[in-house]
Amino acid sequence: MIFGVDYYPEHWDRSEWEAQADLMKEGGFNTVRMGEFAWKLVEREEGNFDFSLFDEVIDILAARGIKTIFSTPTAAPPKWLVNKYDVLQRDKYGRKKGWGARRECCANNPDYIKKSEIIAEETAKHYADNKNVIAWQIDNEFGCHASTHCYCEHCRKEFAKWLKEKYGTIENLNEKWGGAFWSLDYDSFDDVILPAYNSCEPPSGNLWSHNPALDLEYRRFSSDSWVKYQKRQIDILRKYTSAAITHNLMGHFSDINAFDLSRELDFVSWDNYPENQWGASEHEYVSMAHEIMRGAKNKNFVVMEEQAGPAGWDFVGRSPRPGELRLWTYQALAHGAEGIVYFRFRTALKGMEQYWYGVTDHDGVPRRRFFELQRTAKELHSIEKYIIGARTHYDALVVKSYDNAWGHAIKRHSRNYDYENHIYSFYKANNDLNVNTAVSRAADYEKYKVVYMPAYNIITDGEAKEAEEYVKNGGNLVLTFRSGGRDEYNAVRPLRLPGVFAETAGIEAVEFDAPPRSVPVCGEINGEARIWCDIIEPNGAKTLSYYDDEYYRGKAAITVNEYGKGRVYYVGCDLNDAAVKELVRIVSKSAGIDVKDAPDGVEIIRKTSPEGDYTVLLNYNERETETGIKGESLISGNKFNGKIAPLGAEIIRES
Ligand code: GLA
Ligand code: ZN
Repeated sequence: MIFGVDYYPEHWDRSEWEAQADLMKEGGFNTVRMGEFAWKLVEREEGNFDFSLFDEVIDILAARGIKTIFSTPTAAPPKWLVNKYDVLQRDKYGRKKGWGARRECCANNPDYIKKSEIIAEETAKHYADNKNVIAWQIDNEFGCHASTHCYCEHCRKEFAKWLKEKYGTIENLNEKWGGAFWSLDYDSFDDVILPAYNSCEPPSGNLWSHNPALDLEYRRFSSDSWVKYQKRQIDILRKYTSAAITHNLMGHFSDINAFDLSRELDFVSWDNYPENQWGASEHEYVSMAHEIMRGAKNKNFVVMEEQAGPAGWDFVGRSPRPGELRLWTYQALAHGAEGIVYFRFRTALKGMEQYWYGVTDHDGVPRRRFFELQRTAKELHSIEKYIIGARTHYDALVVKSYDNAWGHAIKRHSRNYDYENHIYSFYKANNDLNVNTAVSRAADYEKYKVVYMPAYNIITDGEAKEAEEYVKNGGNLVLTFRSGGRDEYNAVRPLRLPGVFAETAGIEAVEFDAPPRSVPVCGEINGEARIWCDIIEPNGAKTLSYYDDEYYRGKAAITVNEYGKGRVYYVGCDLNDAAVKELVRIVSKSAGIDVKDAPDGVEIIRKTSPEGDYTVLLNYNERETETGIKGESLISGNKFNGKIAPLGAEIIRES
């Protein structure tokens, strides 16, 4: 399996490369990822290509059995490019972006596209026959540094074409978008604006005052623009090489649709930094990010950058505790990783990322973190056969929808509402109850006993039909407030709420409230609603919980409806975490899922591999914890009596 490091030979004197490669080998690393920012190094002047630096490094590494994942270097355009061509993005105020922090160029700019194609082709040609280049990474983290959206003239023109292709006639667009309001009817596609700054925009962040149909389409178009930009490079690489192609995505990041971005890739990879300058993530949040990345192609993936030390740009976050790098590694494997590459081998002396610590420190001396990974490498190489091709037994699916992430960001419903937090609350509850839960698009329902489809507001008729079929055939569907109310053009449907789900859910949400303070919810599930309360009249459904305050005291808040052979749960309010957990417990049990209450901070994941089934145990607590699971450790070969070490990870064959 790939156990590697991200490496920047260009940061070090040539005289150090051999010793660095020796140390990598000693650490058990068998792969490096290189080249993603090397445009200026390999094309010093326009049209003048020289790969000798990397040729030499690749050979030095290969002599020690270390293979290379090489990248197309388009993420960091050189200054000569921006001097000669007007390739920089424009922000929503029409200002030109500055250069010097990567990812400044526009995906629809013909010169940037052309120059990117040329450098990708030269790189592909140069390394196509190099047996030591085992895979390719396209560019680096599309969308990073707020680079998804651009408001330049090229984008406007491309957007017009994109719309014409989709809508056919401008009359059709006007009708779908409701151009009759505010004199927004267009005479031609070329008239259509980008949702840039206008006088209506309030000074505070998130709310926009453009037509919501325009805004949604622009977000779809911007995502598509990067998918297309990537595709050009994939097509070029495929002309020269059959090696696998990937791109390093960003977990929860939602500006670009990860399903679309990964469609043409051979495998997904992604960059995982659980705690850094900007804060620490809950372990369930990290697990969900892994699941989103697995769900992007419904396929195992590689972590292309895994945190290896304290991390930050201007100051650092918490230092990984002893055992934590190993624990994060097993967490990744448990949630679908088949390979892992640590960022970066040695901490940079110069440049922006001096505080983003790697496997070794500034002096290159191996210390605690290096030795922990060295031990981890030994373990993994010994249990590799359980990792490659392993699958999780998924009982539940939490649906992630990019259209809905964008739609909810455009029209937030209520001041504190956040779609991403909302879907996370369902993943977290499932994870805490050790229900193995996938995160993916609304598809392949039949694979899951329960499908959570929170706040699926924008929905096509086809999607509604599929969800309904799933329930008819015996599935358990969990919907929440704001589901089913809009069509794919971001228009509100002229239906009683919850829109396309009113019948399957067996209810009518006759009114709603965005309450100024929390409202108690009582019944089978007890808790608090804080952001939204649908006031529900059951219409065949059974009430599970009701509100206990406000003018709607006694009205249904959570319901369940028998429909066909299945059930539809409707949660009319946002719930605090403990109440979501109670709900998930009730839903899971009635769906026949074996809910495992483990102590807080312990994750239990059941896997199947070609070598048999096993259970991964992860202990995020800094104290020894009893898991209640017994068997044999596949890592040590010893009996496992249930107690897991502080920040420990185990792979157990249960007895
Ligand atoms: C991202 C990038 C890396 C590096 C790290 C740390 O994941 O892909 O190049 O910048 O962040 O900041
Ligand atoms: Zn642009």
